Amino acid sequence: MDLHIENMYDIDIQTPLDRQGKPLDYQATIKIIEGKIDTQCPMIITSDLHSNTKLVLDYLEKKLEKTKEWTFISAGDMAGNGKKGSNGDATPNLQWAQGLFRRIYFVQGNHDLESSITKSMKNSDGTYCHISRRIQEIEELGYIAGIDGIMSTKKKLHRISPKEYFREIKRLTKEKLEWLITHEVPCIPSISKQKKGSSELAKIVIENNVKHHVFGHCYFPHWHGTIKNSRFLAVDGRVLLLRPI
Ligand SMILES: [Fe+2]
Repeated sequence: MDLHIENMYDIDIQTPLDRQGKPLDYQATIKIIEGKIDTQCPMIITSDLHSNTKLVLDYLEKKLEKTKEWTFISAGDMAGNGKKGSNGDATPNLQWAQGLFRRIYFVQGNHDLESSITKSMKNSDGTYCHISRRIQEIEELGYIAGIDGIMSTKKKLHRISPKEYFREIKRLTKEKLEWLITHEVPCIPSISKQKKGSSELAKIVIENNVKHHVFGHCYFPHWHGTIKNSRFLAVDGRVLLLRPI
């Protein structure tokens, strides 16, 4: 399992606002990370771009010579109005990505408003773009599946009880997955050097030999690594541009 990082840089984005709409006193950044990975197609993997999604898509449209060669994967929270914690409808951004790239696959985050349009979006090969609770076999990627939202017993958007969440993750990972996409965070202290996230989620991923687990929702400075046969990629606020080795 190989992942080689070749280039890393920040792009300018909107200054984040607090919940009242006043600019926060730090300059947030989005990291673009270019590299190579052992896959069969070039891949963009990202999450939690919130109100900067349009800026990033515009950047990618200009930067990438042949956008139609790229497969785009998002782990959610791809809209917002710039205020910290704002919810948004990611549909226009996801439709833009669908028009730009070869195929797109996504789950929704806790800030993405429910949309019947995104649920039925399909790629040109007939696969669903929205992969929550769906296992699909993709020619160049193998089996891919995901789940929207985060674990919580609160009666709010994209919150799922831990019991239901784990039941569903176990069902999805029974098929030997190449790619699992979640907004929720696994606890992987040997990689992230911190204790955030769910240990049970990490355990299920590792035990079922999921090859890649892409997740968002929390920013991890230490963002990638491998445990046994599973590679974890924490992509909150990052845009990975990975070409095949
Ligand atoms: Fe989130």
